[in-house]
Order: sequence, then structure tokens, then C-alpha cells
Amino acid sequence: MAFDLAITGGKTVSGKRIAALDIFIKDGKIAALRPHAKALPPAHRTIDARGLLILPGVIDAHAHFKLKMGPGKYTADDFTSGSAAAACGGITTFIDYTGQGPGESPLAGLKARVKEAAGRTYTDFSFHCMLTGLKKMKHPAASMAAAVKAGSPTFKMFTTYGARGLMASDAEISTALKAASRLGALVCVHAENGPEVDLLEETYSGLKNIMALPLSHPPRTEIEAVGRVAGLAAAAGGPVYFVHLSTAGAAGIVAAARADGHRVMGETCPQYLALDESLFRRKDGYLYSCCPPIRTKQDSAELWRALKKGLLQVIATDNCTFTSEQKKAWKGDITRLPMGMPGSQTLLPAAYTFGVKSGRITLEKMVELLCENPARIMGLAQKGFIKPGADADLAIINPAASVKADWRSMMHNTDYSPWQGRRLYGTPRYTLLRGEVIAEKGKLTDPKRFTGRFLRRSLPRVI
Ligand code: URP
Ligand code: ZN
Ligand code: ZN
Repeated sequence: MAFDLAITGGKTVSGKRIAALDIFIKDGKIAALRPHAKALPPAHRTIDARGLLILPGVIDAHAHFKLKMGPGKYTADDFTSGSAAAACGGITTFIDYTGQGPGESPLAGLKARVKEAAGRTYTDFSFHCMLTGLKKMKHPAASMAAAVKAGSPTFKMFTTYGARGLMASDAEISTALKAASRLGALVCVHAENGPEVDLLEETYSGLKNIMALPLSHPPRTEIEAVGRVAGLAAAAGGPVYFVHLSTAGAAGIVAAARADGHRVMGETCPQYLALDESLFRRKDGYLYSCCPPIRTKQDSAELWRALKKGLLQVIATDNCTFTSEQKKAWKGDITRLPMGMPGSQTLLPAAYTFGVKSGRITLEKMVELLCENPARIMGLAQKGFIKPGADADLAIINPAASVKADWRSMMHNTDYSPWQGRRLYGTPRYTLLRGEVIAEKGKLTDPKRFTGRFLRRSLPRVI
């Protein structure tokens, strides 16, 4: 039997070790791993990976593509441009969110989003189900069970965004956590104190500049909400996963809750790890707006430490792309500024450059945070690991090569990058999805072929 593809001479990286192994792929799966040898079994194609590092394809546990912002208004990246950027950046699976209205069925929301994305992505994809307007639902637990059965065992709730009808009460979060505990599901929470943020936005509305963002989202608004929801999770016995944590204080609460034996996990993003609030002093500081806002260098240092110690489990993008034209429309009114940044193409390079190259985490730890942990936590059994039987999803990087980040050469549908001009290592030479090279040296191999599939996920693991 000839293998479809052999990747020879490289070093594979897992969360535990770096190994000199050849990889043999058949029918989209990893068929065999063998120590480097001169005599190779037959293969239809061979990739010479000498000098290269072979990582599992990155799983972005938090992405927004074609996110509806209002009637006829969407984020700039749709599923095609977003997944193109993801593929060129080494991501082979992303998890986005459903968009049904408050109180509406998560399953209906899931079906609608799968229909929007199907046949339009280069990478595999899945969805977390939004859980908004829970108290309007007749049978919340049954609605959640239906989504779990359909392959979406993770739910998203907010302690903020009241004006958009997304904010959940403590009682609703508690109900969801109890149901999740019974179902083996997971509740993911965007934790900021919404009422206080609203009040502060009002207070600073006269400023008309981007300093209104950090001033209306001070660290305590995140820390309070994370503490409150961690308490609800402890009382309900349900697991919780905090998305996009930005502060040292929030990381400390997650650490303390875990030390007390509670099922609490957390994610952070490159913008909180390697950008800092000095950007708000720039004339174009509004381009770097996201919720929660980017913080101080000390916060970043604490977040790195928490990742290194395993107190936070995942680095994800929270990709939410706008053009500078879309951002400009805020005209000094913070409540009208679209929040979020492009990040899919730069997740792996940012983690590698500012984490591994800078000595903050090991290469093995990076693979745990970008690949293995998201696979475990999000119920993606066939992804995240280089092992026989797994999908042959790989990101192959040249550790010595670097590029100067430039939005012009990226696939995102926008005209700026938060990393513009910064030297990034770890951009993939090849990205493989189920054994097929879908991107090479920053370009899609075949832009006309939409290779991505919807992934039904199994139950999450709390780690
Ligand atoms: O600013 C952000 N994070 N935009 C995306 C939506 C969200 O809250 O995750
Ligand atoms: Zn959020
Ligand atoms: Zn988000």
C-alpha cells in the first residue's frame, strides 16, 4: 500500500515532547509515525520537512465571521475571507457562534449558521450556541440538550451587552450552569460588569476620544464579573470557561477557583498578551478597540505566567474584523465603535513570537494551548494531536524564518493589522487539512476549493 503523503525529516511537536518523526498520511488521516529512516515506504507525494517543526493544526476556539452588527451590517470578514486568513495562519478548525435572537432555539440558530458557512470555508468549523434570553425559553435545559445532540455542546453567555439584549442575569447563568452540569456540556462566558460599563460609558461620553474605552471598562469590571460567575459555577457545580480574559486579576480568580477544586477554565488572546494600552495614545488608537480592552504590560506578563503554569488553558483569537472605514464611523461616540480586531492569520505567529521565541512559554506548551487543550475542552476528538487515527491537520513552520507583518499580504478583508510592521516568526510554510495542503507560504493552494466541513463535537472535557 502506498501512502498518499509522507512528511519526512521534520520534528513533530506535542504538548509533551518534540520528536524526530516521519509522518505518513492515508485517506486524510495520520496512518503512521516512524523515526526518521533512510528507507521509506512508498508515498504518492513527499514533503521534505528537514529543519521544519510540524505542529497539529491550530484550533481557534473563539472566532467571529460574518457576525451581524445590525440590519444589513456585518463584520468585514465573512466565512471565506476569515477561513482563508485562518488557513494561511495555520488554523485548521475554528469555532464561531450562532446568532439567533434572545429566547430563540439554539438548535435553530445552529442550523442557520451551519447553512451560512457550509461550502464557504477552507478550514473545518463548528459553532458554540449563544444562550441569550434564557428566561424567555419554555424549556431551557431541553433546548440545550437538543443542541448538544446536534454536535454543539458549548454555550455562550454574557454578563454585558444589555443594550443588545445579550446580557444574562445571575439566575439565568445559574440555570444554564446546572443544565450544563447534567448534560456534560460547557458554558462559556464573556464576563464584564455590563451595568457598570454602561454607567461609565455615559460618564465618559463627553471625552470623544478612545480613552473612553479603557476608562469605561476598568479592570474591576472584568474582575467583578469573573468572580461572580466563578461563584455561580461553584454553587451550581457546572463547568465554566471564561473567554478573552484580559486582566491579571481575572487570571488570579480563575487560578484560585481551580485551586479550590472548581471546574473553571479560561482563555486569553494575543491582543491581551502582546499589545498594550499605550496604543490608545495614537491618533488611530480606535482601530485597536475590543471588549474587554487591551490592558497594561503587567497584565500581559501575568497572563503569560498563568498560561505557563496551566492556570489558563487556551489562546484563541476572538477574531472580529472591521475595516478602518467601519471603525471610523464611531465619530467619537464609544457606544457606536465596533469592537474587535482581525487575528486569525496571526494567532500562531503571535503565540510563537511573543511566547516561544521570547522565552515565556515552551514550544510544547504552545501546542497544548493552541491545539491540544482546545481539542479536549471543545470536544474535538479527531483534532489537535499528531497521532495515528487523527485527522491529518498540520501546521508546518520554519522556526528560523520571519516576516514583517503587513495587512496587504494577509487574507483578512480589512486594511490594517494590529501587528503591522512587527517581526513575526512561526508563520506556516504549509497548512494541511485532512492530509491536503490547503495553504503554502501565506497563499491558498486552491482558492476555488472550499475544503472545510462542519464538525459535530462530542462532550467537552474539563481540564
Ligand atoms: O471586542 C470584541 N471582543 N468583539 C467580539 C465580540 C465579543 O465580545 O467577543
Ligand atoms: Zn466577548
Ligand atoms: Zn468574541
